[in-house]
Amino acid sequence: MDLCIIGSGYVGLVTGACFAEVGHHVICVDNDQRKVDMLLAGKIPIYEPGLDELVHRNVGAKRLRFTTSTQEGVDASQVVFIAVPTPPQPDGSVDMTFIEKVAREISSALKPGQYRVIVDKSTVPVNTGERVAATIRRYNPAAEFDVVSNPEFLREGCAVPDLMKPDRIVVGTSSARATDVMQRVYAPFKAPVLVTDVNSAELIKHAANSFLSLKISYINAVSAICEASGADVELVADGIGMDRRIGRQFLNAGLGYGGSCFPKDVKAFIAIADELGVPFTLLKEVERINATQLDRFLKKLRDSLWVLREKKIAVWGLTFKPDTDDVRNSLAIDLVNRLVAEGAHVTAYDPKGMEKAIEWKLIPSSVKLAKTPLEAATGAEALVLATEWKEFVNQDLAAVKVAMHTPLVFDGRNLFDPATMKQLGFQYYGIGRQAAK
Ligand code: UGA
Repeated sequence: MDLCIIGSGYVGLVTGACFAEVGHHVICVDNDQRKVDMLLAGKIPIYEPGLDELVHRNVGAKRLRFTTSTQEGVDASQVVFIAVPTPPQPDGSVDMTFIEKVAREISSALKPGQYRVIVDKSTVPVNTGERVAATIRRYNPAAEFDVVSNPEFLREGCAVPDLMKPDRIVVGTSSARATDVMQRVYAPFKAPVLVTDVNSAELIKHAANSFLSLKISYINAVSAICEASGADVELVADGIGMDRRIGRQFLNAGLGYGGSCFPKDVKAFIAIADELGVPFTLLKEVERINATQLDRFLKKLRDSLWVLREKKIAVWGLTFKPDTDDVRNSLAIDLVNRLVAEGAHVTAYDPKGMEKAIEWKLIPSSVKLAKTPLEAATGAEALVLATEWKEFVNQDLAAVKVAMHTPLVFDGRNLFDPATMKQLGFQYYGIGRQAAK
């Protein structure tokens, strides 16, 4: 099929490449000329495992191309996907400017007698599809189209496998014609397709991300109880996770959830519920617990080091989770900034996130960046693990211990085994675990 994706960010670009991989002809549109030029020159603007290969293979096979022209994309495609940002506003509600603008652009690109399925893939508040349809109709009363909601559930860092083998595909539409088109788009993926009305599909996305955030905050609240009572949160998570109704996934206690989705989507869902007159106070508690995790973690450092001013602290990890270069809304970055604010001398290392942390000025210039984890730890009075990259588990920890000034390890993601750390001679502090001295 001929498909167009408007917006070539994380979601748009990976979706476009995966659609091309299964045989569709895809045209990716972006209004950022620099980004399109980069893509035309064969450069991928983001780090996502497997994406580089996928883009090159499909560009080579002439199934994937890039343009800045919405008109060209709409003319060439039966289905037009919208995958533009929906950033948060200062009050937590969603900024819909980009979606509204794209709706107007599509509207002026639609020609009479040319039926198009307009699919919203961006995360949007419930009732957006109705507004998109009304906008297109207002500016182009003769246009023939259906608006479909098709939320995306991919995770950064494993976006390609998530897209190629999804748990489910949600298609929100009440039009039989659009349903048929969407079934054909997704047939090659051989995944279950849940067809709903537009509003339900839109709500599914916010409800799913908020539920996963709730699961994380739940286990983080339990971790505080474990610390206070002498239990171990990892064992508690294993025990409750073995119940198939609960499941072990997203029960990893740590510094909390970050990234460009969960914090924003929980806030947005709170704002949506408020606006609808049905306050969702449970989610406010989810946010409160998430914010408390970093405070509790920093207290652990202070309890051991007393005063953080002038302390040499190594931080391993800057990205909001492993296998991505994304440092937006990363708790690791917040941690570095809190340490610097207390006067600590921080040396950080991250396998992929250092470049963007500097480029986007997310950490102060006083933070030293090391070339290796060992270099960051050398001379440190404490080592803080903030992101659970595999590279950190594979370190020669005996050498790290020798290089450190004093062997204190604060593990913000429960990556290391406390008994092994103790054996190696570290004073180890995890989350929701007993300190092994
Ligand atoms: C999340 C969802 O998992 C995707 O399904 C969704 O499509 C995406 O948001 C989106 O809305 O676009 P993502 O933000 O890439 O994906 O990252 P996750 O792997 O879900 O992790 C989010 C945060 O939760 C990370 O900071 C991670 O460290 C934290 N987390 C995750 C925990 O603290 N504990 C866990 O057990 C799991």
